[in-house]
Amino acid sequence: MPEHTSNELTDSEEQYRLLDASGQAETSEEHLPFPTPTMGSDGVRKSEERRGDKVAAYGALVSMLIFVCVTWFIVFTNNPTSMGWFAVHPLFQSLGVGCFTYGILTLQPTANPKTKAAGLQRHQRTMLAVGFPCIALGTLAIEIHKFSDGHSHFTTWHGIFGLVSVGWLVGQVILGGGSVWYGGAAFGGGMKAKMLWKYHRLSGYVLFPLLLITAYLGGAWSSWVTSHSQAVVRFVGYTVAPIVAILAIYARIRLSKMKFF
Ligand code: HEM
Repeated sequence: MPEHTSNELTDSEEQYRLLDASGQAETSEEHLPFPTPTMGSDGVRKSEERRGDKVAAYGALVSMLIFVCVTWFIVFTNNPTSMGWFAVHPLFQSLGVGCFTYGILTLQPTANPKTKAAGLQRHQRTMLAVGFPCIALGTLAIEIHKFSDGHSHFTTWHGIFGLVSVGWLVGQVILGGGSVWYGGAAFGGGMKAKMLWKYHRLSGYVLFPLLLITAYLGGAWSSWVTSHSQAVVRFVGYTVAPIVAILAIYARIRLSKMKFF
């Protein structure tokens, strides 16, 4: 008998709902990021990829790589040790947003039980184990920097958007985690809790551009960045790259999973 690893589904778990091979019919549970049991699956699988999905995925990854590299380049070519806690802020915020991009990409096309389960595992690891701690540390760093230098807080559009998006992010984690952890116990359990996942999905698609607009405001307009980098580098890293990433992530959205009525 073949060994069963934690990433694989057993035969009985394979008796999950049959996913339509024609790509036409959507069931009320297809939007869920995890497999749901049903009767009589014969193993027919729905194709997960549409034309253009792969190009969009590479577009999102490459643009985020550019965004992260531009940020790290600007910080490390400007004597980061002289900046105190401030240096941690752009480094970790950019890394966090990069992780979120991968975390979204990894779930977007999953439609089959096995890929859903594996995708959700990758999503949680990327978002919770790396992305969220990066944003938390980056935010803490700018606050320590501002408090210790006696600067006033949330005085720029970047700071205000940053405050809103970090608050939203905390809500996003609670909504997503609460609807899947311990059978959704935090939200009453069962399908009631699981159905909240679609609000987590919708909210994530609003939060992602919000984070990138925040990064754009900080990268393209803050006086520290404008006085420590070349205009063309800033334009590519904080205007072109975020626009490409948003378009690419949005191009991969399955509207069929966004039905609310
Ligand atoms: C999406 C990621 C980001 C978030 C959530 C974020 C959040 C914030 C917040 C909340 C503040 C204000 C803190 C306060 O006033 O007490 C701030 C300040 C700052 N951030 Fe960011 N930031 C992000 C990315 C970046 C990036 C990529 C850069 C630079 C390339 C940057 C540069 C700055 C600078 C220079 C300040 C100080 C000036 C100001 O308050 O506008 N940030 N950030």
